Amino acid sequence: MTRRPFIGGNWKMNTDLASGAALAQALATESADRSAPLDVVVFPPFPYLQSVGRLLSASAIALGAQDLSSEANGALTGEVSAEMLTDLGVTWVLVGHSERRHRLGESDALVAEKLAMALESGLSVVLCVGETLEQRKSGCAHEVVAKQLESALQRLSADFAREIVIAYEPVWAIGTGVAATADDAREAHQEIRAVATSRYDSKLASGIRIVYGGSLVPGNARTIFAEPGVDGGLVGGASLKAGDFLSICSAATIGITAG
Ligand code: 13P
Repeated sequence: MTRRPFIGGNWKMNTDLASGAALAQALATESADRSAPLDVVVFPPFPYLQSVGRLLSASAIALGAQDLSSEANGALTGEVSAEMLTDLGVTWVLVGHSERRHRLGESDALVAEKLAMALESGLSVVLCVGETLEQRKSGCAHEVVAKQLESALQRLSADFAREIVIAYEPVWAIGTGVAATADDAREAHQEIRAVATSRYDSKLASGIRIVYGGSLVPGNARTIFAEPGVDGGLVGGASLKAGDFLSICSAATIGITAG
């Protein structure tokens, strides 16, 4: 099955209004080609969504948010609802990023609620999973990722499941400069697809896009994207430089093979 490559740029808690706008403008100018065979999404911080969205509106790059509330609305100080995001033209959202799981204490149950809220609200989702270094060293990386995924998919209908993008982001590779090897990435992606197969079926699982995240840079993107079953990437640090991000996008259009 052919899967359309996906590249996301997760700006995390970086940029300010001026530099975020400059980055968005550079991306919009440099990626005017709407026929490129991939989905590109940037995920700026909440306060800059509207201005970045305006700058990207004539480009092929979609607007994403880094998180959403599991609740629809109400007395939840500081939270941002799915409806508020769609109101701003946001079409994608990250759910379950490891920084939210590990630094901000999000449980598997909360991630599943956010996933359901996002999809029921019409947002497209990148669901993030990945093991820590300790979990990897103790030999339970695959179990950890499988559990995160099973919990998220437990109550998810097949119709919603086939729409999601899953990001495999090993925590030890995020922001460290040490990306997973191509072999590690391929193996983890195979395991993830196997979990989706046992939850649904192989036809559905073979259509789900699974992307890699963790210290992706122009220098390693092509090698990782060349692995069968790696359908693109979720980029952190390198997404803050327009040239690097676009070069990773180009690597995805050239190097991805479905498998
Ligand atoms: P880095 O690319 O900075 O390692 O971050 C990856 C990531 O967490 C993307 O969501």
